[in-house]
Amino acid sequence: MAVNAAKHGVKTLGVIGSGQMGLGIAFVAAVKAQVPKVLLCDASPAQLKKGVAFFDKLLAKDVSKGKLTQEEADAAKARLHPVDGIPALKLSSDDSPQMVIEAATESLAVKQKIFGSLASTLPLSTILATNTSSISVTKIAASAIAENAKAGSEDAIEGPKRVLGLHFFNPVPVMKLVELIPALQTSKDIVDRAHAFAEACGKTVTHSTDVPGFVSNRLLMPFINEAIMTLEKGISSKEDIDTCLRFGMGHPMGPLALADFIGLDTCLYIMETMYRETCDSKYRPSVLLGRMVDAGWYGKKSGKGFYDYPSDTRV
Ligand code: 3HC
Repeated sequence: MAVNAAKHGVKTLGVIGSGQMGLGIAFVAAVKAQVPKVLLCDASPAQLKKGVAFFDKLLAKDVSKGKLTQEEADAAKARLHPVDGIPALKLSSDDSPQMVIEAATESLAVKQKIFGSLASTLPLSTILATNTSSISVTKIAASAIAENAKAGSEDAIEGPKRVLGLHFFNPVPVMKLVELIPALQTSKDIVDRAHAFAEACGKTVTHSTDVPGFVSNRLLMPFINEAIMTLEKGISSKEDIDTCLRFGMGHPMGPLALADFIGLDTCLYIMETMYRETCDSKYRPSVLLGRMVDAGWYGKKSGKGFYDYPSDTRV
């Protein structure tokens, strides 16, 4: 097994959500950490199929570039197992994942439902991680209590202790960072094992307290928002704003192109969360950002944002 396996102890990993983020996490777990069984779970069969097809595409690209041999790609593919729902993560009474990473829609209600269901399905020893980009990990952890656990029982107290945030970055196979966010309730051994797991996935790990936006989005989102306000105020064109940051500061993408890449709905959601939870006016989302989301212009995924994206350039 790959480096650090003894430290993290993950032989079976569950990943909830087979969109860009979930699929990327499943990919680095299978290819880099070489976790023997990666259960990729999505409630939508069509999305699951799309995710598996993208996994194959990433493997084929790595083989064509000489980054993986065909044998290594085949072995990674054999580690991936699509499953159609949370109950299917428990393979048998004595075989269930040591860790599950949730990368579903960025909605507190959706995540609370998933964590309640995970807690009811999987043993207390399973580490439960969320890939949320801004929602309180402490709030999510508070929902990780099995349905039948009585208030104040050991199950109700222990359940939230195995929850933490593992924040990956898009595109997951390329970006080298994972931000680790312990909830107020998380126990130290869970933090250590999750840290070792993220390293086994080839990532550098930073830690953040559970504050709105953590470190990464607390810095990135106001920067993107300011670029949108700069456009909104007519100070410069979108192209010049992006060029300024690309060529003046060496960013791989300008902030408006990056906002399209992340998703304008996601950017708005994160800004709104930071604004609501801190009541600090520096996090007030740009009106233009809100209007673009109202229009259904979500960026690359919807084909239109600050720039236009023909369907063949979208994943
Ligand atoms: N999935 C997997 N791999 C991808 C990919 C994707 N969606 N998009 C690009 N790549 C890979 C390419 O295959 C290529 O791999 P190779 O080196 O093996 O050939 C490599 O990335 C470079 O791609 P390209 O040559 O096509 O294009 P660029 O050189 O322009 O790089 C980029 C594309 C990597 C996306 C680069 O522009 C970049 O780093 N942009 C910044 C991305 C960023 O900031 N991400 C973080 C967003 S914030 C976030 O995720 C947190 C959330 O909470 C908001």
